[in-house]
Amino acid sequence: MWYLRALAGLLLVATPSGGTAAGVAPDEAEARVEVLLGAMTLPEKIAQLTVVSDYPGFDFARVETGEAGNVMNFGYSDRDMRLLAAAWPKSGQKIPMLNGIDMEYGYRTLLPVPIAQAATFDIAANREAARLMSREAVLDGVDWTMGPMVDVSRDQRWGRTVEGAGEDVLLASCLAGARTQGARAGGQAVILKHFVGHGFAEGAREYGPVELGEPFLRDVALPPFRTAIAVGADMVMAAFNAVNGVPMAANRRLLQEMLRGEAGFGGAIVSDWESIKQLRFHRLAEDPVEVVALALRAGVDLDMSSDQYRLHLAEALRRGLVRGDEIDAAVRRVLRTKVRLERERAVADPNGASPAVVAADLRRLSVEIARRADVLLENAGNAVPLKGIRRLAIVGGLADDAAAHLGPTPGHAAEAEVTTFARALSERAARSGVAADVVEGCPKSCAEVSPDDPRIAEAARRAAAADAIVVVVGEDERRIGEATSRADLRPPAGQIALVRALVATGRPVVVLLQGGRAQIVEEIRDGLGALMMVWFPGTNGAVATAEILFGDVAPSGRLPFTWPRATGQSPLSYDLPPTSRPAAAQDRWTNRYLDLPPEPRYPFGHGLTTSPVDYADPVLDRPRASVADTVTVRVAVTNRGTRGVREVVQLYARDLLASRARPDRRLVAFEPVEIEPGRTREVALEVRVADLGFHVENGHWIVEPGVFRFFAGPDARAMRAVDLTVTDGLDVAPRDEPILCLDRLTR
Ligand code: BGC
Repeated sequence: MWYLRALAGLLLVATPSGGTAAGVAPDEAEARVEVLLGAMTLPEKIAQLTVVSDYPGFDFARVETGEAGNVMNFGYSDRDMRLLAAAWPKSGQKIPMLNGIDMEYGYRTLLPVPIAQAATFDIAANREAARLMSREAVLDGVDWTMGPMVDVSRDQRWGRTVEGAGEDVLLASCLAGARTQGARAGGQAVILKHFVGHGFAEGAREYGPVELGEPFLRDVALPPFRTAIAVGADMVMAAFNAVNGVPMAANRRLLQEMLRGEAGFGGAIVSDWESIKQLRFHRLAEDPVEVVALALRAGVDLDMSSDQYRLHLAEALRRGLVRGDEIDAAVRRVLRTKVRLERERAVADPNGASPAVVAADLRRLSVEIARRADVLLENAGNAVPLKGIRRLAIVGGLADDAAAHLGPTPGHAAEAEVTTFARALSERAARSGVAADVVEGCPKSCAEVSPDDPRIAEAARRAAAADAIVVVVGEDERRIGEATSRADLRPPAGQIALVRALVATGRPVVVLLQGGRAQIVEEIRDGLGALMMVWFPGTNGAVATAEILFGDVAPSGRLPFTWPRATGQSPLSYDLPPTSRPAAAQDRWTNRYLDLPPEPRYPFGHGLTTSPVDYADPVLDRPRASVADTVTVRVAVTNRGTRGVREVVQLYARDLLASRARPDRRLVAFEPVEIEPGRTREVALEVRVADLGFHVENGHWIVEPGVFRFFAGPDARAMRAVDLTVTDGLDVAPRDEPILCLDRLTR
């Protein structure tokens, strides 16, 4: 591998003391950074602050001249990786470049999308997913992931919901930490994105302005970043958005004061794609030299792809708009990550797993994750699992569309390696002696066909010959991800027509909904046998869906977001504070829409099991506690059915009286557990009392003494309750506030 060879040479020359490697003393690493920095010319320093992106017809002389200290997107092309490897040694750069790519859920072998992984509520599985996908990329020389995306999102109109962990602060923080730990264990440097509040753009219009009040920003948007930083995130990406009036690429207060000062982040800050250049579109400055000075002084160390630091930073220095020590500080932050990576590589296991072994592990893991990620939304007709059938119709363009399975960020994945729903279901059906008939009906998500397209009627006619129908609909890969905000989340008319025509056959219909956010299902849910969210399964996850449908595995995924009935209900989350007039179905003068019931279609945490599960009242290990304590809430959960279940036990807390209007409830613990039929399991959930607080305007974290009510149950409507009296309070500055989930992540 060219990268490793370059690195080995460099280590011999520059670190005569040899690699005590990953466990290297910080001052030795720091000394290495200083040696490197001290030997750099100004253009070389600026190259360290520059990220050059590949594009069709890329001129590799740009690498040879040394203008690129770091690169991205070459990993999509084996040819360009080879040319890069040939060009780089000619550049004279003194330290290896970082070689990055967006790989939200995999590089060559794709896992289910991040929001699907979140639906598992499984911290360890998310960590292992990140580790393996990073491993696969590192084996190709891609050592820098432009992720994880840790933005909390509460507006289903936003297409990037698919890249994150959903609406809940605790779950998002745990998974931000787990994904960071995993990527680092896999050998990559990470970039947390998008700092901060990228998921809260006004109207969910991508890249739009964000207005976040101080307590909300700190309570909701910031915690996942803090958790991921605490477990070792290398870098943070500044969002495109203007937050509270200041574009993030120039937001000195949020980058320098909040992120570096209060959250103690010492790593490099990366711009988003061309976002330094775009400060001109925000009309912050016209002169590009002033623009780069705004960005660097705000704290942005790395210029992603806008070429502005390369072109204008030296002039900004000459004019006195930035200082030399500011440039040096930025370079140091980048070098620290590189030195860390080179030390880790120096002790990398030479007998480590080969690409083929890693790919096989990823395929296995993708099935394991999808088993726990598919969310059974409805099973009114008891159609899951399928029973007593001889013939199965598998309908819908998405059923056999490999590109759609790979989702919006397919990385370097090959469509030829995808196991589609159609294939997985046909193969599983064959094993039970069930004949499968695959019928397209209409291509992809039927968005381009009219409801009276003859292919729809024909598909229904063929499907009617089967004993059961599975139809795959939802969003295809072009309608999800970055820049796919939608004003209307209803399915296209052709899709509704297809589902209705199938229901009209009288056969049990199971709808598999593909997508990465909620879709409005009001027009397709009538008369269904079952409705299951299957996300974007990646290379091999569809195998798990077939297992669930045939009853080999019980469904157990849970929604990591609240699912609205109508697009107009967005944004929506379960943790809203109470109002002066709580929503009441029959009372117009309450906190609701005139034309919708107040409840969502499905609550946060929702997901059906195929065996009934009962919750007993939760029990506390003590009735009173102090803010220094961790309390244990025990809840007995019984599987009353005849099939095993994996139950995601959820615990919510409500502050009964507080000086602010606090959320009706907040998730404070969760634990997936397996329960055999007829058995009861007592699940112990730990809660740090110090986590039960909130932020106030001055940024402090406050816990007020008083009574907190814990609710245990299967989703955000949980009603089994027990009260805890907190006897003292807490009031700490941001630097000292508790970091969510850190105890679980480092246990
Ligand atoms: C996205 C980032 C991404 C970058 C590079 C931007 O448009 O917001 O998340 O890492 O592009 O592809």
